Amino acid sequence: GVDTFQRVTPIQLKAMTGRKGKPAWSSWQGKVYNITPYLPFHPGGEPELMKAAGRDGTKLFMDVHPWVNWENMLGPCLVGVLVPENYASS
Ligand code: HEM
Repeated sequence: GVDTFQRVTPIQLKAMTGRKGKPAWSSWQGKVYNITPYLPFHPGGEPELMKAAGRDGTKLFMDVHPWVNWENMLGPCLVGVLVPENYASS
C-alpha cells in the first residue's frame, strides 16, 4: 500500500536536482520517481530529461510524448508519493 512509499514534500522534491551528488527526482501524477538511472537510456537525451529534475515532469512529458507510459517504464524507480508541505508525518 501507499504507506510503504516514502512521503515526499515539494521542498524535498525541489532539492533532488541531480546535481551536487544528489539523484534527480521528478513527479508524475502525484508519484515521485528517481529519474537518474533512466538518464542514459532516454531516447530524447539526458539534457531533455533533466529539465524535469526537481519538479513535476507532467507538462514537459505530455507536451513531447503523451503516448509514452511513464508509470510502466519508471515503475522500478518509484520513490514515493508527493504530499503537501505541512503533511502530518508519523
Ligand atoms: C523521446 C521516455 C521524459 C523529451 C522519448 C522516447 C521515450 C521517452 C520512450 C521515445 C518516444 C518515441 O520515439 O515514440 C521518457 C520517459 C520520461 C521522459 C520515461 C520520464 C521519466 C521526458 C521529458 C522531456 C522529454 C521530461 C522534455 C523535457 C523527449 C524528446 C524525445 C523523447 C524531445 C524525442 C527524441 C527524438 O525524437 O529524437 N522519451 N521521456 N522526455 N523525449 Fe522523453
